[in-house]
Amino acid sequence: METSISAPTVLTALAATLLFTLTILLLSDLHTQHHLPPGPLPLPFIGNLLLLLNPNRKAHEVFRSLGHTHGPIFTFWHGREPQLVISDPATTASLLEACSAIFSSRPRLVMLSEIYYQGSGLFTQAYGREWTQRRKLMTHALRPALLKGYGERQDAEGSRLVAELAAGVEWKQAFERYAATAWCVRKKAQVQNFLHLAVPGRYWAETFPALIYMPDFLAPWKKAARRMGDDDAALNRRLVEDVRAQGDGAGDSLTKTLLAMDAEKEVSGRAFTQIPGALFSAGLDTTMSALSTFLLALLTHPHILSFARSEIDTVIGRTRAPVLEDEPALPYITALVREVLRWRPVTPFGIPHASTARFEWNGYVIPKGTVVLASHWNISMNAEYYPLPELFEPSRFSQWRASAFQAGV
Ligand code: HEM
Repeated sequence: METSISAPTVLTALAATLLFTLTILLLSDLHTQHHLPPGPLPLPFIGNLLLLLNPNRKAHEVFRSLGHTHGPIFTFWHGREPQLVISDPATTASLLEACSAIFSSRPRLVMLSEIYYQGSGLFTQAYGREWTQRRKLMTHALRPALLKGYGERQDAEGSRLVAELAAGVEWKQAFERYAATAWCVRKKAQVQNFLHLAVPGRYWAETFPALIYMPDFLAPWKKAARRMGDDDAALNRRLVEDVRAQGDGAGDSLTKTLLAMDAEKEVSGRAFTQIPGALFSAGLDTTMSALSTFLLALLTHPHILSFARSEIDTVIGRTRAPVLEDEPALPYITALVREVLRWRPVTPFGIPHASTARFEWNGYVIPKGTVVLASHWNISMNAEYYPLPELFEPSRFSQWRASAFQAGV
């Protein structure tokens, strides 16, 4: 006797399976949520993503107000993925520093790591054998003794920057040239778009990684990110080839150090040229951004400019430019630099970390692969550590008192 299964029965079975799967996923998420630090109430499957959709509120401001409500560490659900967001330095140190063996990896970043860098990104790499190999090379190229050797060039570039600004060179152009030359090699930078790709909630592919399999004609964002990544890789390659072609005649640089170490034996191709390239970008955008904030802060706070100038006139005089070695004698300038970095953090979210194992901490259970953001914006704007955090006030970082330099103001 032949038996046939009717269409409604198949549909009912499918619906029941789907419902069962969704219920299991939901229960599993609720279980995870129960053991993590509290945060805004997540919706099933989309988590807290709706909080990031308001175009009038920047993501770092959303995180800051969540930090006010939920305390120094809270959980933000990026779809079904929990992310821990830290808002104070003590919690950052006790998790990311004290437990660095667990929290030094990077999360899966679809746009940045997989599409833009095609797996070659140094700062977006997950913990493992290659991570260790490349970190070893990088640490070697950044040894303090070697970095000291760049001091003279940095001093010279500082003087050149001031001379250019005084001669009327457009500030952005002058800052870009300074940042590119002082930190790495002499190459005008291409625009680096990777920070744009890293903003939480900007791309749905981070929440639903399967979207990277969409064909290019349906996913122009994918093509654009890949093209930017390829341009970046080409620039990195030219940077290395340029230094290689100059041989011993090339000026000292991180790239020259890496070539001299024969580092390509350990890491080759795009992954190798990404190391000096990554250091170049790490120093370029960050320095440019900090200099821009410095300019903004001094133009909008003329009394602080007067104090800074008065310290330089008193300690250095007017016959020479300050150099790096003068730093200990310039407490107000040192405090000013710190306040610039605090007032408008260059990387508002920091760079995301990820855990490599299940971890119990302060009564919470943090699953393997949990993303951890030490939010620089939340930390810098934490009134417990920095009273009146919106205020630009260098003296919060020093024993410096205005009266010491009033005479010269
Ligand atoms: C204003 C200047 C700078 C700022 C604000 C800045 C910010 C940061 C941040 C937030 C991180 C991530 C730390 C973490 O993993 O939690 C980082 C890492 C790093 N930065 Fe910087 N940086 C600056 C300048 C530079 C310069 C000039 C260089 C090198 C030429 C550099 C090279 C690096 C390296 C090698 C790492 C480690 C990356 C890794 O291990 O994945 N940075 N920086």
